[in-house]
Amino acid sequence: MTGNDRLTIHNVREQIVGIDAQVPLLDGSHRQYVNFDNAASTPALRPVFDKVNEFMSWYSSIHRGAGFKSQIATAAYELSHDIVGCFVGANLETNTVIFGKNTTEAINKLARRLPLESGDVVLCSLMEHHSNDLPWRQRARLFYIAVHDDGSLDEDDFDRLLHQHAGRVKLVAISGASNVTGHLNPIHRLAEKSHAAGARILVDAAQLAPHRAINMRADADPGHLDFVVLSAHKMYAPYGTGALVGPASIFAQGVPDQVGGGTVDIVTVEDVRWAQPPDRDEAGSPNVVGAVALAQAILSLQQIGMEAVARHEAELTAHALRRLRAIDGIQLYGLTESDRASERLGVIPFNVRGMDHYKVAAVLSFEGGIGVRNGCFCAHPYILRLLKVPGEQALRHQEDISSGTRRGLPGLVRISFGCYNTIEEVDHAAETLARMAAGGVSGEYDQDPASGAYWPRGYRPDYEQYFVLQPGLKLQPHGPRLPRCGV
Ligand SMILES: Cc1ncc(COP(=O)(O)O)c(C=O)c1O
Repeated sequence: MTGNDRLTIHNVREQIVGIDAQVPLLDGSHRQYVNFDNAASTPALRPVFDKVNEFMSWYSSIHRGAGFKSQIATAAYELSHDIVGCFVGANLETNTVIFGKNTTEAINKLARRLPLESGDVVLCSLMEHHSNDLPWRQRARLFYIAVHDDGSLDEDDFDRLLHQHAGRVKLVAISGASNVTGHLNPIHRLAEKSHAAGARILVDAAQLAPHRAINMRADADPGHLDFVVLSAHKMYAPYGTGALVGPASIFAQGVPDQVGGGTVDIVTVEDVRWAQPPDRDEAGSPNVVGAVALAQAILSLQQIGMEAVARHEAELTAHALRRLRAIDGIQLYGLTESDRASERLGVIPFNVRGMDHYKVAAVLSFEGGIGVRNGCFCAHPYILRLLKVPGEQALRHQEDISSGTRRGLPGLVRISFGCYNTIEEVDHAAETLARMAAGGVSGEYDQDPASGAYWPRGYRPDYEQYFVLQPGLKLQPHGPRLPRCGV
């Protein structure tokens, strides 16, 4: 692909930075890395990497610099706000785009900036990532919408909670898509119901944004989304940016949660005049590079087309479900029908019967060169519900963790696709899992009780063969970083 070629779903794989990386396996061989951990973070897209490098020659202080480079950097930063706003279909006359580090920071900001009074109710669901749960616990009376056995939202329970707390529900905080089951919530229908009950709706789009088109819709549309948050590192732009999009009127009032440079129009010893949004909520020198990277990632995704992304990922998901369902010993969670793959994201949770989820993830890595995630995915209540862990057992696990052991903790293994993954990669994972389920594990593994992670006995990869941060400083697997600072 040359610089002038269009990015498509067919050539996007060649445009993934590090796609050719060969990783070592336990048997001494190497193989091309298979990244099935895209729900955590995606690799960088080459156009993003290239745009960042191009921009670095023009990078300079923004807003407060008068120099030519500052003019360019400021203009690029401002335009990046609009690109994000347009990507989520926000009306930029009435909405603002606030940049921060990530989705977690965006939700925390909203939790502090949304006017809430004592007794006000926020509804979230049992499937939420902790980042869309914990910030609300501190700010309101929080109630959880139940989920069904397959992990989907219990919309009757949502209706019931809205009715039960009528007049007091100020916000419905819900994920666009689950990071555990890939379940897609009917966000516009929930928005309509929320608005009819006098509540606003926040959509946590950390998982949705890389995989589906988002349209916040016109403010007057009953199904419009009031707030949307997302993270660039899940969208092929791992340069430390996230965004919060919502009504400018909310952020044009009150004292920002972080105060300091950039948030003000004028300050005297006696008084402060706060700036207009988004400046009021972007305290300090912002991450200009991250904003440009996110904007380029969006332009690249739009060039590929979100429909093409969704279609390709649904094919991967359908294929993976067919292959995994055929393996005796694999227990799938969530929606498991392959012909319904387009109704959810390519996030597939499972367990291998008789094998600890920590060990499954380790064997996939050390013997298959496949990167997945295991555990509870920052959604502990949801995992306990999916696994039907009784309350007393959950308490025992809490005590275990407090006493320093993660042995026997419930959890799942998660495969999650990006738009560049292939059917061949799915086949490789399915074959590796089929071998494992049939008892075909080559190494002897020991579990570290503190972290729960399994490690092949006596095995020590030489990280310096692959990446050196500083000659003479060794990278330690799970080890201490700089045991003696100042050396
Ligand atoms: C649904 C969901 N919400 C929020 C987050 C938090 O995102 P971040 O770590 O980028 O703040 C994640 C991260 O995995 C997520 O999947």
